[in-house]
Amino acid sequence: MLRFSSISLLALSCVALFATRVLADELEDVAGDITPPSAEPLIGSASQMAPQQLVFSNYKTEAFLLSVAVGLVVSYFYGSRKNKELAAAWEKPISDVLRANFSLVGDGRQVFEWDSAADVLFYASGRRHCKFAQGHVVLRARQDAVALINDLAANTQEKVEIEVTLNETESSGFVFAAVPRKRSKALGRDRYDIATFTKVVSNEKVSPKVAIFSENADATTQLLDSGLGDILASEASLLEELHVTDGPSEKPESHDFKCDKKLMAVIRLPAVTTEGLAQFKETLEFVFYLVDYISEAIVLRPESTRKLAKAREEAFKEFTRMAEQEKQDALAKTLAEKRRIELEGVDKMSPEQRRKWEEKDRKKQLKKEQSKRVRRVR
Ligand SMILES: *[C@@H]1O[C@H](CO)[C@@H](O)[C@H](O)[C@H]1NC(C)=O
Ligand SMILES: *[C@@H]1O[C@H](CO)[C@@H](O)[C@H](O)[C@H]1NC(C)=O
Repeated sequence: MLRFSSISLLALSCVALFATRVLADELEDVAGDITPPSAEPLIGSASQMAPQQLVFSNYKTEAFLLSVAVGLVVSYFYGSRKNKELAAAWEKPISDVLRANFSLVGDGRQVFEWDSAADVLFYASGRRHCKFAQGHVVLRARQDAVALINDLAANTQEKVEIEVTLNETESSGFVFAAVPRKRSKALGRDRYDIATFTKVVSNEKVSPKVAIFSENADATTQLLDSGLGDILASEASLLEELHVTDGPSEKPESHDFKCDKKLMAVIRLPAVTTEGLAQFKETLEFVFYLVDYISEAIVLRPESTRKLAKAREEAFKEFTRMAEQEKQDALAKTLAEKRRIELEGVDKMSPEQRRKWEEKDRKKQLKKEQSKRVRRVR
């Protein structure tokens, strides 16, 4: 299909080029009629040939630009329609699985929401063990010939990304990721939670093309036992990536950062065939099964839980300090403000009142000084 759209684009450019040439020929014919007919027809047609070529060469650039413009417009409509058809094919299994699992899917009526001619978003909420799920269908940019060539050159995969925000208290917090080995370097560099808490471990069970980032062996073993291990062992599997995390994906900038527990998955879109659709649906179902599995079946050993808590304490130490500093700053500010208001009141006092106040204030400050000194000595 993809190749067809590229070929059709090329063909259209050729047609446009040809049309422009014919137009140029016709213009030349009109011009040719004006020249007086010659007595010698052979010489006449020869002399007609030369200016014809000359004139067309004048229009070459215009013809090229015109054909490119026509090609882009046509490929936009053609590509958009193609993506609509593809999205319609994938909407069925996605909405079937979502409706079986969530009480609210989409806006209640429609499941897919187009974000661009190659991106579709979906949303669902109302399911045990999670707050909501968000999805993103990423198709090739068929509507944009330039981006499409880029996509084809980079061999980008059409996929569905799903992110499930888990209920905060119903599962253990740990970080895990299974990704294609070729992506593992970038991931270890770009993702704060993965870089901070995990390391790549070898696992002879999964395919050699998959890299496993594990924080805690206990959690990783139990998670792989869900059936995930078998899926990652199969090279025909559609599950491209799977992440479980309770940490921020980027390094937080302040101490009051938000970090939800999340399950994220990337599922490759196969060709739209009966088997492809069925395999995709099965993979998507498995992702939602994992939501239950993580919350119900994974029970970590106490020492694992302790280790995980300690790693978080260590990683977020600087933020704990920042939070304390902020609290102290706020307290100092309140006290300064109180003092300012008090002094304002003193300004309005009579000299007698003011003398009394100053006496009292001196004693108060002295006492404060003393108590501070005592505290320091202790
Ligand atoms: C999720 O959907 C599948 C079918 O697609 C179903 O078997 C399963 O019970 C559902 N889970 C929940 C929690 O509704
Ligand atoms: C967890 O999910 C259930 C619904 O399955 C909900 O009733 C409950 O309030 C949630 N708990 C938390 C802590 O979010």
